[in-house]
Amino acid sequence: MKYNIMFYAYHIKKIIISFIYVNINIIKLLLWTGKIFRIKACGPISIFIHPSAKLTIGQNCRINSGILFNPYRYYNKFSIVLHKNSVLEIGNNVGFSNCTIIVKKRITIGDNVLIGGGTLICDSDLHSLDSDQRANKKEDVLTKEILIGKSSFIGGGVTILKGVVIGENSIIGACSVVTKDVSSNSIYGGNPSKLIKSLDENG
Ligand SMILES: CC(C)(COP(=O)(O)OP(=O)(O)OC[C@H]1O[C@@H](n2cnc3c(N)ncnc32)[C@H](O)[C@@H]1OP(=O)(O)O)[C@@H](O)C(=O)NCCC(=O)NCCS
Repeated sequence: MKYNIMFYAYHIKKIIISFIYVNINIIKLLLWTGKIFRIKACGPISIFIHPSAKLTIGQNCRINSGILFNPYRYYNKFSIVLHKNSVLEIGNNVGFSNCTIIVKKRITIGDNVLIGGGTLICDSDLHSLDSDQRANKKEDVLTKEILIGKSSFIGGGVTILKGVVIGENSIIGACSVVTKDVSSNSIYGGNPSKLIKSLDENG
């Protein structure tokens, strides 16, 4: 196959941009958390944190964002939004692909959790269920904490809604919408997500 000069120029540009992004992202994360920790952030990421919000990240976490680092749903780059007085707690050895985490109150992610590309985790409806309130922009928004238990695997394209507790060592199938709690050691999938099978030996 013959490649022209534009092909090489395009890829060299991409490598340079991703190199700059990686370094800027690590500095951004260090600044925002206010402490030194070991995190590998690869690719373009977006972080918006209100000054009153709290972000804690454990050791040895990894972020893969953008087409160069994970082609699966690469257009959904890794983003975190922490609203006023919100808390995002991330354990050790957590892996993120191109996912989005929006925190109004509190989201806790346990150790060794893997989160797939295109997944959205949001502890709030972000808008009122009352049409008058939505029109007047003075909204009472429903918000409930989310907990993702340690060693869970959240597949790609999943949506985890407010108030959900995912038990330890569970798996959420690709493109599921999780509206209710998920028991430990289980595989859930679908919209709304339901038990597919138990991972317990006697299950
Ligand atoms: C959930 C999952 C782990 C199940 O895998 P598995 O144990 O091999 O299960 P099977 O393929 O045997 O399917 C078992 C049942 O679950 C259903 N199922 C599988 N995945 C499902 C999903 N994502 N949503 C809804 N139902 C699903 C199957 O249709 C099947 O139903 P049936 O028993 O009525 O025929 C897998 O399908 C999956 O979604 N993996 C995640 C992949 C992913 O997103 N990777 C990350 C990319 S970044």
